[in-house]
Amino acid sequence: MATPLRRYSAGARWYDVLSGERWVYGAGRAAGIELLAPARGDIVVDLGCGTGLNFPALAAAVGREGLVVGVDRSAEMLAMARRRVADRGWGDRVRIIQSDAVELDEARVRAVLRAERDRDLADGLFATYALSVIDRREVAWERAKSVLRPGARAGVVDMQPPRGRWRVLSPLARVACATGGADIGSRPWRMLERDAAPGTVQRVERKGGHLVAVAAQLP
Ligand SMILES: C[S@@+](CC[C@H](N)C(=O)[O-])C[C@H]1O[C@@H](n2cnc3c(N)ncnc32)[C@H](O)[C@@H]1O
Repeated sequence: MATPLRRYSAGARWYDVLSGERWVYGAGRAAGIELLAPARGDIVVDLGCGTGLNFPALAAAVGREGLVVGVDRSAEMLAMARRRVADRGWGDRVRIIQSDAVELDEARVRAVLRAERDRDLADGLFATYALSVIDRREVAWERAKSVLRPGARAGVVDMQPPRGRWRVLSPLARVACATGGADIGSRPWRMLERDAAPGTVQRVERKGGHLVAVAAQLP
């Protein structure tokens, strides 16, 4: 089976079409962005940004005073993300960092923020369908948190087996996750629930519980 890096590199060109965005995964993304509620002027790190499917909503929310920083390790996925940025004319508000999330260099991210917005730390973190793909997700999570200001908001959108009457779709969901290299049992939003400031966790589910979006404020 292809490693996750090979998988996303080889499939980058087809990702937007074949990833089930329209019928399934777009619903989780939309719910996550609504909960995260990025504000104008915010700097938001999009961890494992892929082809930049979060960019339209994030870039619109933060405006030209804000900044979206996409991080991904796949050059091919990022080539698609860069094309999206160029096509939409978001060069003033999106920056891309090619890096393994597990090795994310805090100093490098801070330098980008300083150069672009004269600030050191980000206001928000968003990770959609990415942490379940990353084997050492705890390390990636800690690295990403290290570039956030105190009181920043974070949002995690990811997958679990569907429930209730949607359980009949479980085998399909498992195949979709396995194809994407995602661990459907990883429930990465739990890292956010664990680390959140008390009383700030918001959570919604979509598609029979297959998609979980959690947002919260970090201490
Ligand atoms: C299922 S895609 C999700 C992309 C995007 N967040 C979205 O919602 O469409 C997973 C992404 O995680 C990236 N990825 C996987 N492991 C990674 C790692 N260790 N560090 C950085 N990115 C990684 C892949 O290259 C891919 O772009």
